[in-house]
Amino acid sequence: MIAVTINGRHHELDVPAEMPLLWAIRDVVGLTGTKFGCGQGLCGCCSVHIDGRLARACVTPVGAVNGKHVTTIEGLSADRSHPVQQAWIAEQVPQCGYCQSGQIMAAAALLRRHPHPSDDDINQAMSNICRCGSYQRIRAAIRRAAALLAQGGEEAS
Ligand code: FES
Ligand code: FES
Repeated sequence: MIAVTINGRHHELDVPAEMPLLWAIRDVVGLTGTKFGCGQGLCGCCSVHIDGRLARACVTPVGAVNGKHVTTIEGLSADRSHPVQQAWIAEQVPQCGYCQSGQIMAAAALLRRHPHPSDDDINQAMSNICRCGSYQRIRAAIRRAAALLAQGGEEAS
C-alpha cells in the first residue's frame, strides 16, 4: 500500500511499488491533466511536483512517493489563479495544449527556485518539449509570471 498526498488529499493506493507514478495519478486516482508523452523521462509532459520539487512522473516509481506530497496541474490552484497560469492565459501560450501541463509545472518549479529568472535560468530549467513550437510564448509567459510574483501575486507552489 502506498500512502501519498496528492493535491492535498490523502490516498492509500493498492498498487505495485514499481508502477510509474504517472499511471497511479492518471489511471488509479483519475487525474488526467498530467500527460503521457515519451514514457522515458525525455519530453516533460508528465511533470509534477514531489514535495515541491519538479519530477517526471513516467520514470518515478509510485513507491518513491510513499509518505510524500505530490502536486499535479489540477492542484496548482483551485481557480487558475496561480501566477504561472495567469501568465499562460494572458500570453495565449498553448497551441494543441498537450505539453502545457508539464510546461506550467516546470515553470512553477523554476519560479519557486528563481523568482527573477535570467534567460539562462529559463533555458536551463525548461527542457520540456513542445511539438507545436510554443517556446517563445512560454518564455514570455515565464517573464510575465515573474513580474506578477514581484507585484505580490500568489507564491508559486
Ligand atoms: S512522458 Fe514523462 S518525460 Fe515524457
Ligand atoms: S502546445 Fe502542442 S505540444 Fe506544446
